[in-house]
Amino acid sequence: MAKDTFYITTPIYYPSGHWTIGTCYTTVVCDAMARFYRMAGKDVFFLTGTDEHGQKIEGKAKEKGVTPKQFIDPIVDELKGIWSMLDISYDRFIRTTDPDHVATVQKIFKKLYEQGDIYKSEYEGFYCTPCESFWTETQLNGGKCPDCGREVHLEKEESYFFRLSKYADRILKLYEDNPEFLQPKSRMNEMINNFIKPGLQDLCVSRTSIKWGIPVDFDDKHVVYVWIDALSNYISALGYGSEDDSLYKKFWPANLHMTGKEIIRFHAIIWPAILMALGEPLPEKVYGHGWLLVGGDKLSKSKTENVNTELTDPKDIVERYGKDSLRYFLLREIPFGSDGVYTNEAFLTRLNSDLSNDLGNLVSRTTAMVNQYFGGKLPRYTQIEQLDEQLVAMTDGLYAAVEGAVKEINVPKALGEIFKLVGRANKYIDETMPWVLGKDPSAKGRLSTVMYVLTEVIRNASTMLLPFIPSSAQKILDCLPEYSQVKDFSKVGFGVIEDGATVIKSAPVFPRIDIKKDLADIAAMMHARHEQALNAQKGAEKADKKTEPQKSEQITIDEFMKTELRVALVEDCVKVEKSKKLLKLSLDLGYEKRTVVSGIADYYKPEELVGRKVCLVANLKPAKLCGIESQGMILCSDDGDKVNLVAPAPDAKVGSRIR
Ligand code: MSP
Repeated sequence: MAKDTFYITTPIYYPSGHWTIGTCYTTVVCDAMARFYRMAGKDVFFLTGTDEHGQKIEGKAKEKGVTPKQFIDPIVDELKGIWSMLDISYDRFIRTTDPDHVATVQKIFKKLYEQGDIYKSEYEGFYCTPCESFWTETQLNGGKCPDCGREVHLEKEESYFFRLSKYADRILKLYEDNPEFLQPKSRMNEMINNFIKPGLQDLCVSRTSIKWGIPVDFDDKHVVYVWIDALSNYISALGYGSEDDSLYKKFWPANLHMTGKEIIRFHAIIWPAILMALGEPLPEKVYGHGWLLVGGDKLSKSKTENVNTELTDPKDIVERYGKDSLRYFLLREIPFGSDGVYTNEAFLTRLNSDLSNDLGNLVSRTTAMVNQYFGGKLPRYTQIEQLDEQLVAMTDGLYAAVEGAVKEINVPKALGEIFKLVGRANKYIDETMPWVLGKDPSAKGRLSTVMYVLTEVIRNASTMLLPFIPSSAQKILDCLPEYSQVKDFSKVGFGVIEDGATVIKSAPVFPRIDIKKDLADIAAMMHARHEQALNAQKGAEKADKKTEPQKSEQITIDEFMKTELRVALVEDCVKVEKSKKLLKLSLDLGYEKRTVVSGIADYYKPEELVGRKVCLVANLKPAKLCGIESQGMILCSDDGDKVNLVAPAPDAKVGSRIR
């Protein structure tokens, strides 16, 4: 009989080259689930990959003077290296530049065009030239670019559109008929109320202003834009629409698309609509997970005294603590559907309490005692007593408990079930006191039962841990050589170990960490790195100085004097709401007050500016930025990377002219 199949996918990653432990989250969760279902007897296909087209890549490659593909290749290799370091067992790593993907996307685009689901029109948007970004009207902030606060202008571009609006009712019906389609459940209301009910707009699916993309083969001015390219990877990877579509026939529809919460909309609205248009079955489930926050930030750095001391680079963590420590933390610490927080301290505390104290201790104590009392040959139990019954029942019920949690996609709960058993077994050692039984020759039978129960707990727990922390779980199983070759869960349950089985004394699988010392070591390492980076930057600045800056045309003194520069005092400063870059400064000129909006929020905190003297261009025509009238401009130096205020001498009089 053919096995049940299970098809699971991660989103395809942008080749940003900025790989953090947060980036690893989706893939580690999918890997654990893929491994679980393989061991549970399913035929699994686990897909991951990279999303390689678009303007950003095109621009970065140009800056470096290489082709986009040359720019991306080493970044993709680095990502694959991280996956191999973390034992990620994907069945295919798809790249959107793979020729089979390109061909499939072209076919899909053409089919949708021919049947009228894609049509040609004009994309009209608000374009910010310095940011090279299009914005919709609703995204604008007071009519200005929401990123930099500058003027935008309407621009038109010939584009193809996908008739997303046509599918709104069918998507609502999909949610109604399949309440489990999108999880966690709260996300479904978000989709309905925030996106579908206000009205779905047709989707721009091609661009002529970008070159780095999949060409529309019947209109080669255009390249396919973003979502038809990216989302189609889930079926192109299986050979959809190609000569050999056997994998597609076998694995589609996907059982689970795992995605971060910020891209649920694309997976729960656009992707089903594309599939509906293609007349293909829909995925069974989309799961939108939360983020791993580091110091309150989705992607990266928490700063202690301005130096990031958190270990955000997966390579750093794996080098110091091993791959399974990182896997375990990610799988255990991000609660079902919501965000989780990484700090070095939370990480080390979790390792010590669960892996070293609970699991590590149980394994080392049990294997040591079987060696001490029975020469490493475990006798079969004699009689199960009342004290043993709960552990035996928990061991027998372990598979069902873990499977239930995995089915709910609640991985922390699945691990919790295993560690409940481990914790109970540690308590059982204290209750049964094998070291007392060991001194009493008449208690040999009882001692053998206690040791048997404990060894079964270890075998069962480590078997169930194989999908989550594969290499450490295998190390534990290696203590039971006759039972170490585990391919599936068929031997999970109590009473499998035969009389006289070998038990090898285990070396510590998870050495105990001196948290205080490690935190200090990590902080010292990160500070040293920071120093190094600063020195490198200084070196680069020196080198930069040697290159001639671009010189401007000469002006006369009269022309210069047209600019009225004055010393001003910052009396107050606040962030401009809804803008990442702007600060609003209240200035005193002695003879009058001014409000100035300045794009320096990336470089200065508002409180750092209050009380400082600045140079003000006092006769600049007022301009509105994010709805606030800016009455002048403050001067800064700008080396391309960093912006610094130009500060008058501390004793310069407020209001005095600078010339
Ligand atoms: N290319 C798109 C996906 C297209 S799928 C058809 C994309 N790529 S991404 O590189 O930005 O993100 C890939 C995955 O990594 C997403 O699921 C995202 O949520 C996840 N994570 C990146 N940083 C994360 C955290 N800090 N925490 C948890 N996951 C996060 O989006």
